Amino acid sequence: MSGREWVVERLEGIEVWTIDGEARRNALSRAMIAELLVNLARVRDDRAVRCVVITGKGDKAFCAGADLKERAGMSADEVHQFHRSLRDAFRGVEAAPQAFVAALNGAALGGGLEMALACDLRVAGEGVEMGLPEVGLGIIPGAGGTVRLPRAIGVARAKELILTGRRVGAAEALAMGLVSRVAPAGGLRDVALEVAGLVARNAPVSIRQAKRAVDGGLHLDLDAALAHENAMYQDCLRTKDRVEALRAFAEKRKPIFTGE
Ligand code: COA
Repeated sequence: MSGREWVVERLEGIEVWTIDGEARRNALSRAMIAELLVNLARVRDDRAVRCVVITGKGDKAFCAGADLKERAGMSADEVHQFHRSLRDAFRGVEAAPQAFVAALNGAALGGGLEMALACDLRVAGEGVEMGLPEVGLGIIPGAGGTVRLPRAIGVARAKELILTGRRVGAAEALAMGLVSRVAPAGGLRDVALEVAGLVARNAPVSIRQAKRAVDGGLHLDLDAALAHENAMYQDCLRTKDRVEALRAFAEKRKPIFTGE
């Protein structure tokens, strides 16, 4: 399953996808994004995968954003195409039925942080820096950063990070809600797998529907958001897993979910 750009590990209910580009600080290249799209298509209908952890090789960078060396040799058309595939890939992560956990093993900058923002959860290693430096490069965060960052941490804090390009460390990121856990030195994989494991033991349809309820309801007015939540809830009522959960409770055992 592993390709040239990503190492894919399959564990019980969880896949770990590791960007295999340490020498370029796991920067986003065309090949790397193309392979991400292939992996997303592969797991979309795979009920055995309940949670995906995205991380990077090494301890320097989770992902240093766009591959600026590759970018320098691209035509305007190629930049345009690449940018579209980047946006599609990040939207694919967000819309996937599985929960995605970004395990930030090192710097998450520009498109790297935007990829992490498309994930449902973010955990960071101690000492990790993150930021959106695009305005210093004559562009703006254009792969969802200006949209997802304010949704994650609020408008004022998001604008501060976007307009200054300032990098924040793990502790500050935790305080502002940009990440939900900080792992001690050497403990990132354990923390990420612990979080992923807690997600993966739940009913797959519930995970999918809960994601859709939160993401789809966030900017609707109150009544529309409640109606949206109800629609997501109704889909769970039809599942065998809901019946299995009630049976397991009565029989004082753990439920065995199949995703049906
Ligand atoms: N694209 C392509 N190559 C990159 C890169 C990127 N975004 N970021 C780093 N690299 C390359 C460097 O050019 C260098 O290559 P070389 O060995 O051929 O010179 C190698 O990765 C190591 O970079 P270095 O800066 O020495 O690593 P570091 O561990 O000291 O720092 C970062 C890592 C990520 C903090 C730092 O590289 C950085 O700030 N990168 C730029 C981030 C950025 O502005 N991204 C664009 C956002 S739009």
